[in-house]
Amino acid sequence: MTTARIAVLPGDGIGQEVTAQAVRVLETVGRSAGLKFEFEHALIGGAAIDATGAPLPPQTLALCRQSHAILFGAVGGPKWDHLPQEQKAERGLLVLRKDLDLFANLRPARTFPMLVDASPLKRSVVEGTDIVVIRELTGGLYYGEPRGVEQFADGSARAINTMAYTSREIERVARVGFEVARKRRRRLASVDKANVLVVSQLWRDVVTRVGRDYPDVTLEHVLVDNCSMALVQRPTQFDTIVTENTFGDILSDEAAILAGSMGMLPSASLGGRVGLYEPVHGTAPDIAGQGIANPIAAVLSAAMLMRYSLNMGREADRVDAAVSRVLTQGHRTRDIAGAGGKSVGTREMGDLIVGELERGA
Ligand code: IPM
Ligand code: MG
Repeated sequence: MTTARIAVLPGDGIGQEVTAQAVRVLETVGRSAGLKFEFEHALIGGAAIDATGAPLPPQTLALCRQSHAILFGAVGGPKWDHLPQEQKAERGLLVLRKDLDLFANLRPARTFPMLVDASPLKRSVVEGTDIVVIRELTGGLYYGEPRGVEQFADGSARAINTMAYTSREIERVARVGFEVARKRRRRLASVDKANVLVVSQLWRDVVTRVGRDYPDVTLEHVLVDNCSMALVQRPTQFDTIVTENTFGDILSDEAAILAGSMGMLPSASLGGRVGLYEPVHGTAPDIAGQGIANPIAAVLSAAMLMRYSLNMGREADRVDAAVSRVLTQGHRTRDIAGAGGKSVGTREMGDLIVGELERGA
């Protein structure tokens, strides 16, 4: 029997609760597919700061490097917000992404037909939405140099972040964009701010050049402000989106609302040898520890892990289908139940999905 070594990094807040359900789902699928999963848990984020003083302890990084894939929860919370930028809980994730060269972050946002009414947007707007946001993840404004804060003698200060890209960095993520679009509806929107930023002008030029290798994909360039408006006005016009790190961070949260809830959105971070899979939502300190968080984003991230890191597309499809069946049966966690609707907890939602997988095996 083959063994897949998975580094499990639950992190903070609801990351702990939802990741546990994703692990159960992988175990269940593994049993019927004849694959043995070896899960090794490690600390990251605030939990790691509390235990070791650092958001990404060396043991965690070493474990990640040796694994076949990483199942990640979420990091951060009010407890660690006062720390300097370089020591914050979030830094653990940012360093991990960079170290593993995970430059392409795939964030699919699809409106489930049975959840159309869970979105605060009108049915006529969101129905049929099916988008993949590809966010560049190891460059741009998040990582550009110089960065830092200068303190002046008069007590004032100046802070700097830099948005920078090399043409190589743009080209490699653009290629992922075209490849993904090619397997979908063959439309790629490259999102930038080329009317203002030189880095966006380079982005636009490189994406256009790369596009010549993909004559079967229709490429359009969209300004980020316009894209953000169009996403809530007519989301169905988009298929695949490729964009800068910060723009992708912002647009993917917006896209989450189209899918009904942040609790529904999985993601895959790819590029290097080891892929990282995490729900798009954060640690949700307001509901952490109550057992009511929606585990579906984490479960769908586990499905992406099988699809992209383990070449188990059929098993990934089975997980996606089990989630859809549970939703069709009317089961809802609180975030998607609607006002006054009946809801199940994190663990029960996990039970329901596992149950469906066992029945469908
Ligand atoms: C995300 C999150 C992270 C980011 C934070 C937790 C560092 O918002 O994955 O979208 O900004 O990339
Ligand atoms: Mg974000």
